[in-house]
Amino acid sequence: MTSNPTKTALITGASSGIGKALASEFAKDGYNLVLAARGVAKMQALADDIQRRYKVTVTVMGADLETHEGAARLHADIKAQGITLSALANNAGYGTFGEFSTSALMPELAMMQLNMNTVVSLSKLFLPDLIATKGKLLNTASTAAFQPGPYMAVYYATKAFVLSFSEAIAAELEGTGVTVTALCPGPTASGFQDKADMLDSALVKGKKLPTSEEVAAAGYRAMQRGQRVYVPGTMNWVMAQSVRFTPRNIVTMMVKMMSRPVQAAH
Ligand SMILES: NC(=O)c1ccc[n+]([C@@H]2O[C@H](COP(=O)([O-])OP(=O)(O)OC[C@H]3O[C@@H](n4cnc5c(N)ncnc54)[C@H](OP(=O)(O)O)[C@@H]3O)[C@@H](O)[C@H]2O)c1
Repeated sequence: MTSNPTKTALITGASSGIGKALASEFAKDGYNLVLAARGVAKMQALADDIQRRYKVTVTVMGADLETHEGAARLHADIKAQGITLSALANNAGYGTFGEFSTSALMPELAMMQLNMNTVVSLSKLFLPDLIATKGKLLNTASTAAFQPGPYMAVYYATKAFVLSFSEAIAAELEGTGVTVTALCPGPTASGFQDKADMLDSALVKGKKLPTSEEVAAAGYRAMQRGQRVYVPGTMNWVMAQSVRFTPRNIVTMMVKMMSRPVQAAH
């Protein structure tokens, strides 16, 4: 596929997992890329590989997106290079695992900043680009978005925010040519579980998880179709639907059982 200079995608959280895999999906389709995260060396290695394989231009931008300044600086740096985006993948994010009564506050506030505020900031800052190019906005939410999540209470709430926000602006943007897709993966093999310190959670322990590549490829296709909410995997989809017809306290109790630290389960 040859490079098309009119198509450029920004992917946040491109140093690992789903974001790294999304980068290849966009590049295969002829998008030039801007990759953003803190792990510059990892993104540079990915950029070199993608440029060789797909003959597109890849720009790496080191960015800490846990502050508004980080998001604003990323926008300014992209504009300073004269780049207009035709796709934005707000994918950077992480979770924290543990009981809310004893978990540390500051990492949770930082996670809220990255998972929610940065999604809002970058969406707003780049919407003029997306409207001008009739572009695509892809926000990585989660199946966590559909119900409360004991042991990951703050993380689940951030993803409910991303889903609600994405659907609302998708409706506002009808008729502009811009589509908004909330990608809602279930547990996926990536750096996520390690970072969230949740390898002992019953949600993932001993489970065979889909790869980041599988999730990114399916999510990319959903974005190209302009699908507003996409849940990869039949079981994930069934679970996401079933919570709508189940009393919320029962759903919450079930998630508590499914997420519990395995040593504590008897
Ligand atoms: N894996 C799952 O089970 C799962 C399920 C549903 C949804 N998700 C969502 O999928 C998205 C991608 O996660 P993943 O599973 O691919 O996990 P991952 O492999 O840990 O990747 C997370 C990405 O976010 C970036 N990131 C973290 N903190 C950052 C910061 N302060 N500034 C800029 N970038 C930052 C990381 O880059 P640096 O560390 O280099 O900055 C990395 O590229 C997240 O939004 C996550 O919530 C994951």
